[in-house]
Amino acid sequence: MQHFVRTQDFPREDLDRILFHARNIQVMVETGKKKKLKRRLKGKTVSIVFWEASTRTSKSFIAAGNLLGATVDFTADAGITSSAVKGETFEHTIRMLAGYGPDVLVIRHKEQGRLAEAARIVDHFRYKTCIVNAGDGPGQHPTQALLDLYTIKQELGRIGHIRIMMGGDLLNGRTVRSLAYLLSKYRDVEIVFAAPDELQISSDILNHLTETGVKWSQIGENFREHLPRMHAVYWTRLQMERITDASLRERLQVVQKEKFCIDIKELALMRPDSILMHPLPINSEVREISAAAEQDYRCVMIRQAENGLWVRAALLDILVNGWPNY
Ligand code: CP
Repeated sequence: MQHFVRTQDFPREDLDRILFHARNIQVMVETGKKKKLKRRLKGKTVSIVFWEASTRTSKSFIAAGNLLGATVDFTADAGITSSAVKGETFEHTIRMLAGYGPDVLVIRHKEQGRLAEAARIVDHFRYKTCIVNAGDGPGQHPTQALLDLYTIKQELGRIGHIRIMMGGDLLNGRTVRSLAYLLSKYRDVEIVFAAPDELQISSDILNHLTETGVKWSQIGENFREHLPRMHAVYWTRLQMERITDASLRERLQVVQKEKFCIDIKELALMRPDSILMHPLPINSEVREISAAAEQDYRCVMIRQAENGLWVRAALLDILVNGWPNY
């Protein structure tokens, strides 16, 4: 594996091996074997460059690199702190970032497709650096999807044989896109997409699910009728930063607030053994998962985010050192 850019590129076996390695890293840390991990990336460099805001992805990649003993550097706000402000081309920026020799270059960009472009540039100019997509606009967020899979496995004990509802802003949210691709690699998965018409999941994902035999449906504000059947409910915020029309943004915010939120009434409809997930952040004005709902034992979103450390550490280790011999 040289790059980790698009979830559809990875076979199920690779995903299972990454998740297995992530679990081993978690167990090692929780049983006091951190010292051994610290040697994994000794002498290696992880360079993290973000053009967009982040709490979880940036911090967990930094923590993952530190956990494995790498030298880690982080550039926030690259759009205003790098020479992009002087008109530098994306290609030159990537060639420079790769040219200083990081083993892994973790990038978040506001434009869809930029990470695939970065990987092409690195390959074309024969740099050894591995590119990791930490989110490319409304495109994909593959490492988020990995931690989502890990959470489903840990919480439900399986990834296949589940019914999952994905709700909120499915048009602009990159996490649902990456997760849908990953889930399509597992058996007997049903996905219900719950969103206002203007924010429904796009046809490229639906076509992929149809081609791979995943049962799917799209529903609107009647989503509550389907909650009792779900093993997992994956809710997302309105991606306000991607909706340029201010009046549309305001209207959709009202629609989500009034019709597409999860409160204790919705939780009451869910199975006692189901889980409520959210990639975070929650929009504090809309509160698409209410503060009361957040207190429910089925709401796993903080553990979900914490799992990012284990999967990102596993991924960095595999990218640099190859597949572990289990
Ligand atoms: N889920 C996620 O990507 O969070 P951040 O934007 O805080 O990294």
